[in-house]
Amino acid sequence: MLLEIENIRVHYGKVEALKGISLTVDEGEIVTLIGGNGAGKTTTLKTISGLRKLTSGRIAFDGRDISKMPGHKRVIAGIGQSPEGRGVFPGMTVEDNLLMGAYTRRGGGISKDLAEVYSLFERLAERRHQMGGTMSGGEQQMVAIGRALMSKPKVLLLDEPSMGLAPKLVQQIFSIIEEINRRGTTVLLVEQNAQQALQLAHRAYVLETGEVVKSAPAGDLLDDPQVRAAYLGGDLVEKPGESEAADDTDKEETQA
Ligand SMILES: Nc1ncnc2c1ncn2[C@@H]1O[C@H](COP(=O)(O)OP(=O)(O)OP(=O)(O)O)[C@@H](O)[C@H]1O
Ligand SMILES: [Mg+2]
Repeated sequence: MLLEIENIRVHYGKVEALKGISLTVDEGEIVTLIGGNGAGKTTTLKTISGLRKLTSGRIAFDGRDISKMPGHKRVIAGIGQSPEGRGVFPGMTVEDNLLMGAYTRRGGGISKDLAEVYSLFERLAERRHQMGGTMSGGEQQMVAIGRALMSKPKVLLLDEPSMGLAPKLVQQIFSIIEEINRRGTTVLLVEQNAQQALQLAHRAYVLETGEVVKSAPAGDLLDDPQVRAAYLGGDLVEKPGESEAADDTDKEETQA
């Protein structure tokens, strides 16, 4: 077990955002967390990366209890996070943004890893000298993921990587995540885009108001009537040519 979360509770003031969540991620897996707004997905990722404190419960990573480990040490231990809302440094070039991701690292290999990131994201290679702040939304998402990869994480935590992207770019981001996993990085993926996340992931957890209400192989959840109704628009699995039948608001980029 690479990552093991046991019964964690997390509060914002008096509000209990996570009410005893347990989940595991094995080495080599893509695991996805799905759930509605406010379910606790972002809080779960932030607690794993050390940005939020536990009220109770335990997090083990790579055989160690990291429940009280400060965030920067978790990066060194192998937890990489690409945050919700991207957080690209606007006044730094794309390349310097990527190099910031390697700041915790000792030893060499950084230029090789930079080349690896550029091989995943051709667009970033083309724009390596452009300022981060002038990159488009989708390109900034690539910078954020690339920067997280530069810390050479054992597990990559991704919070809504497809948020606000045009359909074509959503597709591209999902295939890049698949490629990152194929090259050996374990992935914990949070997505509103449940259909695509479930198609990509090995296993999935469904969160509702701070609790895990379901966990299963991702493919099973694609066929689960309750999950379909709540998170997949209730339609049958989309077949080519049938997508116009769906409510067209689904296709808008609803999240700014
Ligand atoms: N900084 C904060 N202060 C107070 N409450 C917060 C804070 N951040 C999150 N919460 C609350 O914690 C709960 C879980 O929020 P979280 O951001 O983890 O949800 P989420 O599943 O990521 O939702 P979304 O899909 O909208 O991103 C929500 O009720 C939210 O209002
Ligand atoms: Mg969130």
